Amino acid sequence: MTEGVQVSGSLRTRLAITLTGGAAVLAVLLFIVVRNYAAQIAQQGQDSILSASVTSILDAAVIRDGVVEIDFPYASFSMLSTPMDDRIFYAIYQDDTLLSGYGDLPRTSGTATRAYQGSPVRLVTASRVLIGANVRTRISVTVAQTQDALSGTLSRISRNVALFGAGFFALATLLSIWATATTIEPLKRLTTSVTRRGPQDLSPVAKPVPLEMVPLVASLNSLMARLGQSLKQSEDFIAEAAHRVRTPLATVRSYAEATLQRVDREENRQALRSMIRAIDESSRAAGQLLDHAMITFRADHLERDDLDLVDLLRELVLRLTPVAEMKDIDLHLQADGPVIINGDPILLQNALRNLIDNALKYAPGESVITIRVDAQPRVQVEIRDQGPGFPPDEIDGLTGRFSRGRNAAGTIGSGLGLTIAQDVAAAHGGTLALSNLPEGGACVTFSL
Ligand SMILES: Nc1ncnc2c1ncn2[C@@H]1O[C@H](COP(=O)(O)OP(=O)(O)OP(=O)(O)O)[C@@H](O)[C@H]1O
Ligand SMILES: [Mg+2]
Repeated sequence: MTEGVQVSGSLRTRLAITLTGGAAVLAVLLFIVVRNYAAQIAQQGQDSILSASVTSILDAAVIRDGVVEIDFPYASFSMLSTPMDDRIFYAIYQDDTLLSGYGDLPRTSGTATRAYQGSPVRLVTASRVLIGANVRTRISVTVAQTQDALSGTLSRISRNVALFGAGFFALATLLSIWATATTIEPLKRLTTSVTRRGPQDLSPVAKPVPLEMVPLVASLNSLMARLGQSLKQSEDFIAEAAHRVRTPLATVRSYAEATLQRVDREENRQALRSMIRAIDESSRAAGQLLDHAMITFRADHLERDDLDLVDLLRELVLRLTPVAEMKDIDLHLQADGPVIINGDPILLQNALRNLIDNALKYAPGESVITIRVDAQPRVQVEIRDQGPGFPPDEIDGLTGRFSRGRNAAGTIGSGLGLTIAQDVAAAHGGTLALSNLPEGGACVTFSL
């Protein structure tokens, strides 16, 4: 089915990769943004507590008798306590002289992060000018704190954000699988509806399709319309040609017959008989071609009707009885009652006539042809004869166009009868099966 078609990747894979790739990028972006934002907020929290601590120390500084005195408020360090017992350092300078604290603590202006005693610390520095009776001095206070609690909080937040990002990615992947499936679905439906068609069905795709597929379906429909048109033209041509050949052939045949009556010399009579036979061959072929063209055309637009299959066969048997009588063949119709079906009467008649015609042609004289109609388990007509049966090695190919068996030598025919019967069965959703009976004779089963 797909041979000869060049494949360029898969829409499903492309869609899935785009969607899951997009989801992965989004998940990573989400992780980075949320983590940075959380880090910023946590840092702001630490900074504001450090600033409050610095301010409270600065506020406690006074000049008494010309000397700077600082009465450390208890709260200035206790507010910095953390669950991780982060270490706190401080340094207080009067102008450039260390008054108290760690002299090696880096002096910065404002807030900064520096390494101190082997770990990163956050420092906040602020200063204040004190004015006494005859003194004017600048007090500068730095408070620093390690960041163990902060990095603990940050890694907790990172873990949670990572989990959230992974969950988001999993959900987006599921969604993308679902989205891919629903996007591909209409394409699949179209493929199924085109694949399921019968070989003769060239009707346009009628089911609604998504907007993006409209140009494709429109081209498909127009292609099928053109194909149908050109098929019909060639069928018409065959029918017209067959018709044009048949009429003059009938005239030639009647002249040949008339001449045969008047000719006495045996070799001339032999020549005329061969001529008549050739004319019969040609006119049978023209007739079968005409029927075949008609059936091919009608198979697309079956003119269905409720009809009794037994009735239809009874009529056929009646019409073929004169032919059967010429060979002393008994045409025997068996049915338990009417078998009502919905089908195209002209096509069915044509198909069944061809099958009975075969039995009459290939069965020997003074034999019985049984035509059995059944409604259960499925509607079928079985035609059995007492002839030689189908040549077993050729049986599979006999329904092909213009295919004739070895046993047909010397019998007039064109090899289209079984093709016609099979096409009619297929147009009605049925089958045609050929077999040989164990006791000899051919059995053809026409099921609907
Ligand atoms: N009842 C039968 N018994 C034995 N052989 C048969 C029978 N029916 C068909 N066949 C074989 O199948 C072949 C194909 O049959 P088909 O009806 O298609 O063509 P045909 O009878 O040769 O020509 P026509 O188109 O005129 O019917 C025949 O040529 C014959 O060999
Ligand atoms: Mg035939």
